[in-house]
Amino acid sequence: MDEREARVEIDRLRKEIDYHNYCYYILDNPVVTDAEYDRLMRRLEGIEREFPRLVTPDSPTQRVGASPLAAFGTITHTVPMLSLANAFTKEEAIEFDARIKRLLKPDEPVDIEYAAEPKMDGLAVELVYENGVFTKGSTRGDGFVGEDVTQNLRTIRSIPLKLRHDSIRIPRHIEVRGEVFLPLESFKKLNREKEAKGEAPFANPRNAAAGSLRQLDPRVTASRPLDIFCYGLGAFDGPPFTTHFATLEFIKKTGLKVNPLVRVVGGIDEALKYHDEMEANRESLNYELDGVVLKVNRLDLQDRLGVITRSPRWALAYKFAPKQESTRVKEIFVGVGRTGALTPVAFLEPVSVGGVTIERATLHNEDEVRRKDVRPGDFVVVQRAGDVIPEVAEVLKDRRPPEGLPEFRMPDKCPECGSMVERIGAIHYCTGGLLCPAQLKESIRHFASKRALDIEGLGAMHVDQFVESSLVKDVADLFLLTKDGLLSLERWGEKSAENLVNAIEKSKHPTLERLIYALGIKQVGEHMARVLAEKFGDIHALAKATKEELEETYEIGPETAASIVDFFAEKHNADVLQKLERAGVVFPKKERKKAGRLEGKVFLFTGGLKSFTRDEAKDLVEAEGGEAAGSVSKKVDYVVAGVEPGSKYEKAKKMGLKIIDEEEFRGMVGK
Ligand code: IVH
Repeated sequence: MDEREARVEIDRLRKEIDYHNYCYYILDNPVVTDAEYDRLMRRLEGIEREFPRLVTPDSPTQRVGASPLAAFGTITHTVPMLSLANAFTKEEAIEFDARIKRLLKPDEPVDIEYAAEPKMDGLAVELVYENGVFTKGSTRGDGFVGEDVTQNLRTIRSIPLKLRHDSIRIPRHIEVRGEVFLPLESFKKLNREKEAKGEAPFANPRNAAAGSLRQLDPRVTASRPLDIFCYGLGAFDGPPFTTHFATLEFIKKTGLKVNPLVRVVGGIDEALKYHDEMEANRESLNYELDGVVLKVNRLDLQDRLGVITRSPRWALAYKFAPKQESTRVKEIFVGVGRTGALTPVAFLEPVSVGGVTIERATLHNEDEVRRKDVRPGDFVVVQRAGDVIPEVAEVLKDRRPPEGLPEFRMPDKCPECGSMVERIGAIHYCTGGLLCPAQLKESIRHFASKRALDIEGLGAMHVDQFVESSLVKDVADLFLLTKDGLLSLERWGEKSAENLVNAIEKSKHPTLERLIYALGIKQVGEHMARVLAEKFGDIHALAKATKEELEETYEIGPETAASIVDFFAEKHNADVLQKLERAGVVFPKKERKKAGRLEGKVFLFTGGLKSFTRDEAKDLVEAEGGEAAGSVSKKVDYVVAGVEPGSKYEKAKKMGLKIIDEEEFRGMVGK
């Protein structure tokens, strides 16, 4: 065979194998035997081995990359991956529908049509295809930036490396979103294997799916039969669809998997029926469902409804009733968190709820304990819904002993450090600050955690040991740890000490956003840390910022601004920052966005634009140094009203915001 012949044969084999993959993994309807399929694969492998120049990444032989990664890179989503508002009761679902009708007034349809979908309990991913070839994929992460798990996603058989184009035109660039999950059978098998090896089993299929997808070695992921259902698109440069269901039909035609239980329902009554039907059927499925998702089917209506904070107004996760079980409260323990908040936790006789063993349940705060009247010794009903922390649903009063049980009281001194406890709102706080070992431990754990400075191998128990032996009194002390110092403690050996010292050394070059996040300033999560890094460019500038300067920034409200100012005003915090820098932590500078003609200006779009998509318009604003807002507020400088502007327009008019049309906007961005 010469190269030309090989090329023809390779092409034929790949097409045939892709087709069989599609029949097997997507249609669930294989048309050849496994042996026949293996024969085709072996033949393709043989020819590719002989002509290595002809191997391309989209070949079915190239699913599993050979080399493990050192760490995952990150991928910024072109369009943020939003989350969903939740409803737990029928009334809440009906209210969701009523709100939509109110918002669409006066020209709302009599009944809102919804795309009704099962809500899979796995983890959200985004797949990017360029010219029909799978090029990269990421986890949802915080919705803005996710982890690059391309290598691992390639190992999932139901993700085609190449999209089908026999019945549709494939856009040049397309981003597809979906939920990766581990089928229940595979989950059980995996846990049996783990237990046999003496390893801790996964708590639930969701964790197992996440753990399997976030493996640095793609060969491990490949050994876990993960699956996916796709439920939407990110950016794509194709002709727009008119309904969500049409989008799903399109996704199906590309050869990606869409849950066959998806249905269009004519109104909220039918949607409620769909929910109940799915709930009744959930046990018969080979994957976990935690509810259904209702999405307004018409995309023009979706656009008019828009997005609040991080979830669209046009979609709802209507959850199934939580799984419940009864057990006894052994005692009520009070834990101290990073911010000093005291949380009562019920320690329970272990009980299995929906396949997961529960030994503790949060009681939130003193008022909650009172309201539910939980006492140590009580029999209670515990429940878990999806992945949330289990909680006590109710007390079984008739099982309380006739002589009664002692009432629970919040301590007036911190159980960890003995400092006074003060109550702010519903929460009790320890006033010991970082002098309280529990707060110190939690803040060190946070500082070293994966999404902060990511000090690999620094576990919770190590932090306990360092704090208890007074080796570490603040986060900066971590950088003064030496191998000899560690060896002087119990349970440390040459190798483990060396590894930790190296890991600490490696963490000395954080990005600015990670550093800000790591400091653990109240109200500053990952997203806010990124906003601050973008705006201030380095930590010293942030430390000097006044409350007014902070509040000028879109997205920063008065509470967050005050919390940031308070943090840096605290002498201890300023000292620790200095100490960190002296210990060799490099405080990075971030290129601030270049000054464009829209520097500092906030735009809000409502209604359809003629010359751009929403995303293109937002990109133009950002490219000129401006910001695009998701909702109406005082911070918006310009409201760009397109065709058929929605409720945002009315609200903006009422608030007296400056409203411009598309022409004017084009002038401002020079298009
Ligand atoms: S749509 C704006 N559809 O639920 C729409 N999400 O809380 C965003 N999920 O991160 C998501 N099944 O991980 C959508 N049929 C479905 C889903 C689904 C599961 C997950 C997904 C998302 C989370 C939102």
